[in-house]
Formats: sequence, structure tokens, C-alpha cells
Amino acid sequence: MKQVLLSLKHISKQYPGVLALNDVSLDVYEGETLALCGENGAGKSTLIKTLSGSILPSEGTIIYDGKEYDSMTPKRSQDLGISVVYQEFNLMNTLSVAENVYVGRLPMKHGLYDKKTCIEDAKKIFADMEVDIDVTKPVEELSVAYMQLVEIAKNLAKETRLLIMDEPTAPLTEHECIILFGIMRKLKERGVTIIFISHRMNEIFDVCDRAAVMRDGQLISVHNIAEINRDQLIRDMVGRSMSEAYPVCEKTIGETVLKVENLSGNGVKQISFELHRGEILGLAGLVGAGRTEIMRILYGADNGGSGDITLHGKKVFFKNPKEAVKNGIVLLPEDRKREGVLLTLPISQNVVLPNLRKVSSGLFVNRKKVDEMVERQRSDLKIACYSGEQLAGTLSGGNQQKVVLAKWLASDAEILIFDEPTRGIDVGAKWEIYNLMNALCKRGMSIIMISSEMDELIGMSDRVVVLFEGKQTGTLAKSEFSQEAILTLASGEELVRS
Ligand SMILES: Nc1ncnc2c1ncn2[C@@H]1O[C@H](COP(=O)(O)OP(=O)(O)OP(=O)(O)O)[C@@H](O)[C@H]1O
Ligand SMILES: [Mg+2]
Repeated sequence: MKQVLLSLKHISKQYPGVLALNDVSLDVYEGETLALCGENGAGKSTLIKTLSGSILPSEGTIIYDGKEYDSMTPKRSQDLGISVVYQEFNLMNTLSVAENVYVGRLPMKHGLYDKKTCIEDAKKIFADMEVDIDVTKPVEELSVAYMQLVEIAKNLAKETRLLIMDEPTAPLTEHECIILFGIMRKLKERGVTIIFISHRMNEIFDVCDRAAVMRDGQLISVHNIAEINRDQLIRDMVGRSMSEAYPVCEKTIGETVLKVENLSGNGVKQISFELHRGEILGLAGLVGAGRTEIMRILYGADNGGSGDITLHGKKVFFKNPKEAVKNGIVLLPEDRKREGVLLTLPISQNVVLPNLRKVSSGLFVNRKKVDEMVERQRSDLKIACYSGEQLAGTLSGGNQQKVVLAKWLASDAEILIFDEPTRGIDVGAKWEIYNLMNALCKRGMSIIMISSEMDELIGMSDRVVVLFEGKQTGTLAKSEFSQEAILTLASGEELVRS
């Protein structure tokens, strides 16, 4: 007999202008791994925030372990053994990895914080997770992927009965995802109940027992994973049938627009490639391979690099991103919270600020042009919001990502560097973004796409450059694309070409 651990009864949450949760009732069984799926803005994060006590539902009750509660508070939730790994990180940047794992519960000795025990304990947790990390390092020096692993470790250090993870795999590559799934399986064996949010279908099918689908704040359906297929699940999520395939694009690839020769620095060595007009060049590699690093040098965000960069036949080397943007190159960063969106400003200003030149004459900003620009991006990207004036910080995670895209798509860039463009983006919206990328290429723009998703690299790129530990291990033409070929090169192995 399956025991119900958690039962949500008629939960609603009203925000100004949006009913984020609309009468949601859901049972979660003890020891199961339940996927919570749905499009961006469907209400997934909001639902779990009612469980962690970070927001109060407007209506409804929560029954946990047989007791009924009107709402949770962070303390109550913690005392009940509920742990949440949030979509947006919650780390203290200047503290070490070990201190972050134990923050709020640091081991004490003679009234002082016991650093040695803290480090030893943290080491054990990471060893158990099979993650190689220096626990004395400040968190701000970590890549996004490692920050995510620290978030997870933090929760494993607690006595957890219900572990909720909001898109934990979004910043991880295949390899780290495998580590995480191993951890999830171990926890399941120990009887921990898990609620898992992800936009990646294969993960849901790999690690979950059941899937609950939300749409527009409502619970649409709950399925046993063994009894449903991907198409059915997607149909419930988006409310219509759609295939997961990549859009076909007939396009012509033109002359070389950018040539990079022997670019080094920042941990990467001797990278060379060419980018053609209308082309999508994929950049593959594991976390730490140097994909982001090489792009930051190219873009002028990190100085101290060497090598040759030729743009439209002219030698260039950008000292800062501003110069790069002036020359028509823009970078869409992987860490939207740190570099991409201004959370305290409305969507409209986020989109318009980098593009002021296009909407003003002299000193004056033309309101009508602003509205047109914002409206166009809003509808092109289907940003779920009640108006362009909604603060970016109150958008769902995936919709914040779309705002980052919007602000650069509105510009006149010729070369776009996308760092994980569809991270955290739902299946339906991914399709829109892929179409948009193809449309940009048809207009003569060129794209360099860093991606950790194999399917995406293969489905969207015209060629793929693969890095391993800062070195270029190969370049694949479309005819040579395969998951194995990319993985082989990304692991630093030689590719045997037949
Ligand atoms: N503080 C807030 N103020 C106003 N609206 C909000 C606030 N927080 C969330 N919302 C709205 O509630 C809705 C649900 O958001 P939620 O973050 O739960 O979506 P989600 O399913 O987690 O999406 P994603 O996959 O993009 O993370 C969205 O329309 C969002 O804009
Ligand atoms: Mg969310």
C-alpha cells in the first residue's frame, strides 16, 4: 500500500494580475520521485514555494504526514524535513563551499564556529556525491554548475524526508546530471520522497515514477511514467500536439565573417575556428572545458587573451564588451541572474536599455517606438507576463531567460553568441527560440551556440567545435554529427573516422 506523505488541497495563489495557482489538489506518495512539469509560468515554482513556506497560499490547505496546516513557514517546513533546492541560487558568494553547506547550522566548539569539522563534514558529503571540489574555495569562484551542486549538497546535509528540486539539472551537463541522478537514486533507496522539476523530457522518463502536469496555474493531469509516452506528456503540458523534432531550415551559408586563430588565455589554449554568414556553430564540451571562457575573451569580457581575431577581414581584439557590441557581436550569458536581467526593472526597460539608440532621436526617447520594440519581443518570444511593465524579478525562471534573449534580439547584432540559450525553457518555447535562431540566420546573422544538450547541438548546428580541458579536440561537419562523436571528443579521446 502506498502511503500519502503530502496532500495539497485546493491550493490557490493570487498575484496582482495573475492567478499563479488555481485550485491545485495533489497527493505525493512516500518514497516516490514525482516530476512536476509544465510550460514556463505554469506555476511549478510557485507551488513548491507554498511548501517551503516562502509564500503563503491565498487559499487551500496542506496535509503533511497526517497533520493539516493552513500554510507553511520556512521554519515549520524545515522542522518537518522538507528541503528545497531553488531554481535561483541561494548561496553566500564570499563564504567557502563548506560554510555554504552548513550555513545557519555551522558546527560549534567552545562557542566558536568549528572550521575544521565543517570542512571535514563537507568533504564527506561531496565524496558521497562523488563530486570533486575544493570545499575551502569561495563560492563566487565556482562555475554555475558547481554552484548548483553546492545547493544540492546543502540540502543533503540536512535530515530530509521530502526533497524538492526546482530545475536542478538546468545548469548541469550530461556528466553532472548522471552524478545527480545517482544521488537521487541513493536517496530514494533511503526512503526520501522527491519532487523534481525539469523541462527535459528524457530526465523525467529516466528518474521519475510519476509526472504531474501543470498549465496556467492548474493541475492538468497526473500519470504513472510507465503508462505514458513523451508525446502525451508534452500534449498535456502545451495543450496541443507537437513533435519534439527540430525545425528544418533551408538556408544558405555565406562567406567567413569571423576568423579566430590560436586564441589562448583564461585556461584555454590555441583555439581556431571560422564562422560563416548564416551559420550556427555549436560549441560542445563538458563543464570546465573552456567554452564560456573562450567566448568571454572573444567578446572582450576577459582581458589577457592572445591570438588573432579577424572580423570581416579586419584584425580586431576587443578590450571590453562595449567595443564588441559596437562591432556587432553580442553575448547572451549563461548566468541570467548575475549578468543577464535586471530583476528590479520592468521587462520593457530590460529590453530597451541596451537599444536606446534605436528608440530615441537626440535626447528624447520615442515612447511609441519603445512600446513597439517591447511588444514585438514579447509576442515573438511569447513572454508570459501581464504587461511589459511587470518587473523582471517576478517572472518565472524561463520567462526571465526570454527577457535576456529579447534584449539582444532587438539589437542590430550580426554575430550572436548564445551561452545555453534554452536552459530552463519549456518544450513549446524552445521550438519558438529555435525558429527564431533560424530566422536570424536567414537574415544574414551568424550564431555561436554553447550548449550542453546533445540533441540541441546536433539538431541546430551546422558545424560543431568540441573542446576538452581548454583544448580543441575536433570540429565536426553536419554529416559527421552523432552523440558518440561529440562525447568522444568532449572526453578528450581521439575520434576514429571511418
Ligand atoms: N512575485 C510575483 N509577483 C507577480 N507575479 C508572480 C510572482 N511570482 C510569480 N508570478 C507569476 O506567477 C506565474 C507562475 O510562475 P512560476 O514561477 O510558478 O512558473 P514556473 O512554472 O515555475 O515557470 P518556469 O518553468 O519558467 O520556472 C507566472 O505568470 C509569474 O509571472
Ligand atoms: Mg520555475
